[in-house]
Amino acid sequence: MESQQTPEILDYRNENGHGWSFYKHDGILRAVLTNPEDDKEMIRKVQKLELRDDDVMIAAYPKCGTHWLWEIVNMIRAGNSEYNKKAKGFAMLELPKSERADKLPSPRVLNSHLYFRHLPEEMAEKRIKTIFIMRNPKDVSVSLYNHVKGSKKFTTFDRTYSEFLDLFLEGKVPGGGYVDYLKDWQQVKQDNPDLPFLTLFYENLKEDPVKNIKAVADFIGQSVTDELCQEIAEACSFKKMKVADAEVKEDYAERSETWKEGHTGMFRKGEVGDWKNWITVAQNERFDDVIDRTFKATGIAFTYE
Ligand code: A3P
Repeated sequence: MESQQTPEILDYRNENGHGWSFYKHDGILRAVLTNPEDDKEMIRKVQKLELRDDDVMIAAYPKCGTHWLWEIVNMIRAGNSEYNKKAKGFAMLELPKSERADKLPSPRVLNSHLYFRHLPEEMAEKRIKTIFIMRNPKDVSVSLYNHVKGSKKFTTFDRTYSEFLDLFLEGKVPGGGYVDYLKDWQQVKQDNPDLPFLTLFYENLKEDPVKNIKAVADFIGQSVTDELCQEIAEACSFKKMKVADAEVKEDYAERSETWKEGHTGMFRKGEVGDWKNWITVAQNERFDDVIDRTFKATGIAFTYE
């Protein structure tokens, strides 16, 4: 029984001691950010979370636009373009205070970076509407690097992008391998044809927010006017959300403890193609090679600029 054994710790830190250790849980590499026992306990609690028929779940690999989508879905549900007073973290199942999800009023917009097998067991049975958002791996790598470099808690990585990239391309970062995560969700979709599923791309949401907001509203069965979609798109522009994050969210002070002094926090740049400012020609060739060997098999066509 896996949970009763001390799991093997896989030390994937680089020769300078930077990076993360992992353990394997249900075949998934989990970064040891606290300790494996606490991590397993957290997952067990999430799996047992009682779902409600009208819950919506947002699933994404870290840095694919979860905050953005969460705000949009909440606005659609509320039928207006007012920011939710709570931060997305309140509805994020794997955060230490995830029991807060139980106390959220319906209809809830939950979110998580966990693999499907670690999400609430009732997902399939209750046919919970699931929105999956993806982003091109190059921008994800840059965004995740900036996140782990700026974070005071759990995931600090005080090294260069180059060193981070080595780990990212091998899937040895918090969140694990991006391509593994995508493949697993593709399998979930195939194995659970009754699970209502909408797939979005960060780049499309950026290119045509109104069209994508309408698609989300249709998917969750909420009627919206074109005018409301337009208002939500505007309220959820990067610039406005960044301001709202500091001015509207009730727990802003708590979250600002998460970021190092001078770091931009969760709302960094919000662009498609910022990777070009970070990735050298040689690194890009290496990245493309990994994409050809691994990501291509998913059949997912990413937009890079
Ligand atoms: P960058 O680091 O490239 O700026 P997540 O919410 O999944 O952690 O993803 C964070 C990424 O989404 C960050 O990317 C963040 O700036 C970007 N983002 C957040 N809100 C956004 C918005 N309204 N429009 C575009 N990008 C947004």
